Formats: sequence, C-alpha cells, structure tokens
Amino acid sequence: MDSILVKGNGPLNGVIPIAGAKNACLTLMPATLLSEEPLTLTNAPRLSDIATMTQLLQSLGAEVASMQNGLVLAMSSHKVDNHTADYEIVRKFRASILVLGPLLARDGHAIVSLPGGCAIGARPVDLHLKAFESMGAELELRDGYVHAKAPGGRLRGAIIEFPFVSVGATENALLAATLAKGTTVLKNAAREPEIVDLAVCLRRMGAQIDGEGTSTITIQGVDRLGGATHPVVTDRIELGTYMLLPAICGGEVECLGGKMSLVGAFAEKLDAAGVSVVETERGLKVTRKNGRVNAVDVVTEPFPGFPTDLQAQMMALLCTADGTSVLEETIFENRFMHAPELVRMGAKIDVHGGHATVTGVEKLRGARVMATDLRASVSLILAGLAAEGETVVSRVYHLDRGYERVEEKLRGVGALIERISA
Ligand code: UD1
Repeated sequence: MDSILVKGNGPLNGVIPIAGAKNACLTLMPATLLSEEPLTLTNAPRLSDIATMTQLLQSLGAEVASMQNGLVLAMSSHKVDNHTADYEIVRKFRASILVLGPLLARDGHAIVSLPGGCAIGARPVDLHLKAFESMGAELELRDGYVHAKAPGGRLRGAIIEFPFVSVGATENALLAATLAKGTTVLKNAAREPEIVDLAVCLRRMGAQIDGEGTSTITIQGVDRLGGATHPVVTDRIELGTYMLLPAICGGEVECLGGKMSLVGAFAEKLDAAGVSVVETERGLKVTRKNGRVNAVDVVTEPFPGFPTDLQAQMMALLCTADGTSVLEETIFENRFMHAPELVRMGAKIDVHGGHATVTGVEKLRGARVMATDLRASVSLILAGLAAEGETVVSRVYHLDRGYERVEEKLRGVGALIERISA
C-alpha cells in the first residue's frame, strides 16, 4: 500500500487548478441511465471513485468512454441489459446507490447491493428507499440487496418530505422523478451545489425541474429524456482543502476555478481566523501574512453551512491556531478519526461525543500517521506540511478516491511531498 511523505517547507505560493467535483460527477454519471441518447460530461475529475462508477455503469450495459486523459466522459445507455448492481463493485463506494433511482425510473425494476464507502458512521439508505416507496415502488431487502419494482413499470410522482437533509436521497429521488408519471415535490431537499449541477444537467437532457438550490424542488415527469453535454461544477471540497494551504503554512495560493458562492461559510471561518480570501477573475486568492491564525468555532451543517467534508482539514489548521476552538460535527456520528492521528503529531484535541476541543500549539511535529478516510487523509497531509520534520501518511488509497494528482498540485506551490510505493 502506498504512503505519502511530506516535510514542512515554510510558506507556500502559487496557483492550483481545481478539478470538477467528485460528488457532482458521481451523481451526474448515473443520469446516463435515464436516456438512450449520449450524455457527455466535461471537466470530469480523474479519480478512482469515478473509475469505479464507470465500472458499475459498464456492468449494467452502459457504454462509458474516458477521453482527453479522463477529462471527458462520453456515456451512452442505449443497451442497458443488466439491472443488478453487484456487491463486488457496490461495496467499494456508497455513491453506487445512485444507480437505483435511474434504473427504476427507466425500466421499472432494479436490484442493487447495499453500499460501502468511507467508515464515517452508519450511513443508512433508508431515506432513498422511502422516497422510492412514496413514488409507488415495491421494495424488498434480501441477502444484502434491495430488490425494487415499480408496478406497471413506471414510478409515479409524489410529495416527498425528507425528515432531515440528505444529499444522496435528494439526488436519487430527483433522478428518478424526471421520468415518473406526474409531478414530484421534494421538500426539505438538500441545497448543495452538486444538486444544482445535477438539475442543470437533467434539464439539458429535457427534464422539467424547478427550485434546485432551495429546499423545495418540483419535478414534472416526462416520457423520455434526450442527450446532453454538461461541464461538471468545480469541486468545492478540493477547493476548500487547497485554500487551507496558505492558511496553515503561510504564503499566498490562488485556486483556479474557485468561486466564493461554493465556499461561503468556509471562507467566513477563514476570515475570522485571520486569513484573507479574495475572489479574482480566475478563482480565489488566499493569503496569510502574519503569524498564527486565530481560534474559531465550527459547526458542520448541510449547505450553505460549513461542510462536513472540510471539517478534518479545518481541524488541522486549528491545531496550530492561537487559542481554543470547538468543532461540532452534526452530519456524521463518527467523523473525528483523524483526531488521534493529529494528536500523534503533537496536537491537543479532546473529543467528546460530537464535539472536538482543539487547543492550538505553536508547532506540530512530523510523525507516522494513518489515513482513516478520504478527508482525514488530506488533513494529515496539511498538518504534515505545517509540521517540523517528516510525516509519513499510510493507507493513502483513500486519498486517490477524492484528490487527483495531489502530489503534482502540491509541488506546484512549493510543497515537499512524495509518494512511497510499497
Ligand atoms: C454526500 C457526499 C459526502 C458528504 C455528505 C454530506 C457524495 C458521493 N457524498 O454523502 O461526501 O459528506 O453528502 O454533505 O455526494 N442518512 C440517513 N439515511 C439515508 C441517507 C442519509 O440516515 O437514507 C444520514 C447519513 O447517515 C448522514 C446524514 O444523513 O448522517 C447525511 O447524509 P447524506 O447527506 O445522505 O450524505 P451522502 O449523500 O451519503
């Protein structure tokens, strides 16, 4: 298994191009199943999760061609002949549940294994399943698989009120509702930019959708969808991660393609910590000029709140802040697994339930640490870049699921980083 070696090297300066969003691409790709005509995604990120979704779609009979070095995904689902998403692929990542809605909507039946993914909590899919039931589907859980059928071969529109906000359940219901008979209203829907991107793409394919980006989305089902070409929205989590580089190491980094509207709540916290974020013509420029950052309290929330996917990275920053910060995780119940690893590097962190109290130290020290999930792994790299001495992060396969060309991008701003292949 590969490891990553990083060494503190003082302030970082330069530009980093931000890729298309993994989480958007993973919900846009299953949209191909809704149409017999080609769907082409541009600005796709080059990540192992995308390769796994490609494999999953191909296993169903869809054609997926990766072009321009992976930046363009040309898909066609004119001959989908398998309606079973097998455990062997699905266990690798949770987003595989997103083929259930499109398969059901397209042909009225599907069998999908219950998913795996990052070990950051129980992460059930009950809200996805309840949404399909509201749309008339009959579901049965057998041998780890969801067996789903739409009586008469077609889902019907419904009013679905989610008891709490779920990104995945909103996406799955939105995908399915585009081809349902009648109108679907999603209440308490997620408002994430990835949902807006999905709605824009589906509309390009001919879907009738209103209200994306608000908590009520209305979908008027149509009989068929056509083809489209759609650019994947910028990855706000990769963006936020790299915005933390100058915050934690000092210097100035411009993240190309970044927009304030994607990271508003996060940028506000950086500002409160004493880090400047300015929108330029081509992205976001982040600068930390003087000494240590200030401690700030953070509560993770659904968009437009502070994203849970930036909590681990923010914690790495606050480990060296001047003062004590409290981070509260409200989305996932087991998402502080990076804390004991940061403590190995000299951080002072006390985890109690859904809260972590971080008392800043002047300097972290390099250590051997282990990545436990995708965002945790990059938080350890950030901490290593700000630490004295060498840090070796093992189990970096998590990292490759969500960060493309990470060493190359970091070296581009002066970081000392190398991959040690086992
Ligand atoms: C997506 C993102 C993930 C991000 C998360 C929250 C993708 C591929 N992943 O995950 O990176 O951290 O949003 O922003 O887009 N829940 C249920 N039942 C359900 C569904 C969810 O109880 O049926 C719970 C989850 O366990 C969690 C909370 O709801 O506690 C929010 O999860 P959700 O928004 O659905 O996250 P994902 O879509 O899995």
